[in-house]
Parts: sequence; C-alpha cells; structure tokens
Amino acid sequence: MDSNYSKNIEKAYHKIKNRSNKGLVAKYIPELANVDPSKLGVHITMIDGSNCGVGNNLEKFSIQSIAKVLSLTMAYNIVGEKIWNRIDVEPSGTKFDSLLLLETYKGIPRNPFVNSGAIVICDILITHLEDAKEDFLAFVRELSDLPDLSYSDTIADSEKQTGFRNVALCNFIKSFGNIENDPAEVLDFYFDMCSLEMTCQQLSQTFAFLANNGRKITDGTKIISKMKAKRINALMLTCGFYDESGEFAFRVGLPGKSGVGGGIVALYPDNYTIAVWSPKLNLHGNSHKGMELLEDVTTHSELSIF
Ligand code: DON
Repeated sequence: MDSNYSKNIEKAYHKIKNRSNKGLVAKYIPELANVDPSKLGVHITMIDGSNCGVGNNLEKFSIQSIAKVLSLTMAYNIVGEKIWNRIDVEPSGTKFDSLLLLETYKGIPRNPFVNSGAIVICDILITHLEDAKEDFLAFVRELSDLPDLSYSDTIADSEKQTGFRNVALCNFIKSFGNIENDPAEVLDFYFDMCSLEMTCQQLSQTFAFLANNGRKITDGTKIISKMKAKRINALMLTCGFYDESGEFAFRVGLPGKSGVGGGIVALYPDNYTIAVWSPKLNLHGNSHKGMELLEDVTTHSELSIF
C-alpha cells in the first residue's frame, strides 16, 4: 500500500468526523434505527490486494441496497443480455422505492438498482436457481471469501414487518406480467438479500472484482466477463444513487452503490475499491458523511475516473 493512500484516507476521515452529523438514520426498517448514528468508517482495497482503513471500518453494518449489485451480477451471468428485456438501464430520477414510473413503462423497472428493478432480479434468480436464497448466499460467500456469511434474520424480519412499499411494487409489477413467481416468495428473498451485513473492509474486498475486470483479486477467479463488469460499473455510475446519481458523479467521480444502512461502496477500475459507512442519510437515502468523505478522498488524491 502506497503510504499516500493511507494518509489521504486518514486525513479525510478526521476532517469529516469533526463535521456536524447531518441527516437521519433510516427508520422505516425499525432495526436500522437502533444503530449508533456516530459511527464512521472507511476502508480502501487496491487491486494488488493491499488495503487499509480507519474508524469503524472493521464493524459490521447492514449493506442493504449495496447487495443489489451482487444479485445483478449473478442474474446477468445466468441469463445474459436477455436480462435487459425485463429491466431497463436508465437513471430513474426518482426515489429508490418509487412506484411512479412503473405505470408509464408498463412494469419494466428503469434500472436494476431501484427497488423495483432489484425485485425483478430476485424473481429471475428464483426462476433459474434450485434454491435462490441458498445459491445467492453461496455466490456471495465465494465472492467475498467469507464462508460464514449469513443473512441477518433480525434485520430481514424487521423489514418483512414494515416493507409495504416493496409489497406494493412487487404486486404492481406482477400485474404487468413482469414477475413470474409468487410475490410472497420473491419478497422474502429480496428482504433476505438486503439483510446481509459486512464491514467496510469486507465490502471493499468483495467488490474488488468490479475494479479488476470481473476477476477476484485474491485468486484471479473469473466472476463475470470484462464486458459485463464494464456494464455493471456504468450502471453504478448512472443509477447507483437513485435521484442523486448525477450529484455523486459530479462530486465523487466514481461508480458506486449506496444502501440505507449508511454504507457506500465505490470503485476506480484497474485501481481500487473503497467502502465507507456512516448511518445518517440525506433526503435521497444516501449516507451524508459517506458522500462527503468520498468527495474529499477523490478530490485530494485526484483518483477519480474523470
Ligand atoms: O427495500 C428497501 O427499502 C431496503 N431494503 C433497501 C433500500 C436501500 O438500501 C436504498 N439505498 N440507499
């Protein structure tokens, strides 16, 4: 690890740590409201495997929507380009749980990262796999080198009690014929997928394959083709932060994905992956300090894709 990287990360961390902690912790999933809002962690992994972090970088948190990138990776591998017949690749310009554009586009979600798109991805995985929940977990365990990784029942159950908008989204899409399986089964898998927990270190290492042309950095295993990795990165840049994707590209300049647990993972192809965690969210559902920290890192290191 080049010492400039670690200095840069440390500096950004201390600067942002001292700023006022704006935003609100996600409360619509009751379990997420119990998280200490002062947590702040960051971890960077270079594609040569060297890595470093600071703050609460080794503490697990709920990765929520960040998992949507991994379910897309798995489904894209299974069905190939046909996947885009059921989900579009356009930014939505709407909140992550919006129903609005589904009426206009007849049940075709705008992209795989809004909730509606990720729900359709879960449906695709259920259709093609023997046991989608177990097979997806095995895929993520292999990808992350975390053989003990499991869904969090506490978080999944908490969201299953209150996830009425997702129930509405799934049923609405089904009414257009773009959900093949039983909505209850699709939602059960979707909530479990969102309940995965990782640390910033684990997250930055898990996503390193997307900075490494689709191959794991630990042993070179091919997870996805170079072309598909390019497309997933393009989708993260244009759609990874919902109606704030433009702002993220403008300020940070990297493809990335956020989750309502307050995590963000971002990457610079052929260089590094970086994960941050700070639970308080802005109005778009993205980590307030997480974005500030990443903006500081890419501005001072000049290591963004632009
Ligand atoms: O479906 C939901 O609302 C959550 N399980 C995931 C949403 C999410 O993480 C949005 N990201 N910022």
